[in-house]
Amino acid sequence: MSAPLYHPVSYSRTTLTELMIPSYANFGGKIHGGILLSLMDKVAYACAAKHAGNYCVTVTVDGVNFLQPVEVGELVSLMASINYVGNTSLMVGIKVIAENVKSGLVKHTNTSYFTMVAKDDDNNPTQVPGLILENHNDARRFLEALKRRELSRRYQTEFAEAKTVLAVEKELYKLQGERCKIAYDD
Ligand SMILES: CC(C)(COP(=O)(O)OP(=O)(O)OC[C@H]1O[C@@H](n2cnc3c(N)ncnc32)[C@H](O)[C@@H]1OP(=O)(O)O)[C@@H](O)C(=O)NCCC(=O)NCCS
Repeated sequence: MSAPLYHPVSYSRTTLTELMIPSYANFGGKIHGGILLSLMDKVAYACAAKHAGNYCVTVTVDGVNFLQPVEVGELVSLMASINYVGNTSLMVGIKVIAENVKSGLVKHTNTSYFTMVAKDDDNNPTQVPGLILENHNDARRFLEALKRRELSRRYQTEFAEAKTVLAVEKELYKLQGERCKIAYDD
């Protein structure tokens, strides 16, 4: 029997750089968040598929907060690496920066985490290679990913329970002071 396959983090580290062209802008002249999300999905796929050696699908995205606007003409670089592998899933950490080529100013716009699952030829989840942690940062990211998964699972369970027991009529008083109006009678 052959030994299980492992790849180092550096094997699949991927950077995608793209120029922000005018057609990517919204009416305010800034880059649409959806353009950045699409690029993030693309780089996450490239990184995950390289590690997995298989087609991968996006399952969940964590931590998408756009901290600063991105301008037309800036060079956006998305740096992706595998932070964690489970059995069939992988978590890809993506750091996004935007650079003004004239001034050389570099902004960190966001860091997000994409969980992807590898699929076999029959579209079933399939095992991914293990991960070789090459330095302290790789180990820190793996440990953080474990914590992120644990908290995310806890949040999903608690929110599902909270939704089940939510008694809307009893809780309507909480809308006082909120910027909404009730426009129904029953
Ligand atoms: C995600 C998907 C593969 C899960 O399939 P499944 O038959 O439920 O498989 P499993 O329950 O065995 O889960 C597979 C892996 O996904 C992980 N997973 C499933 N749901 C998850 C979630 N909400 N968050 C994080 N990980 C999740 C599981 O933990 C498991 O990881 P592991 O093998 O490393 O332990 C399946 O729902 C799917 O194909 N969804 C569509 C994905 C897609 O098409 N995305 C593109 C966007 S349109």
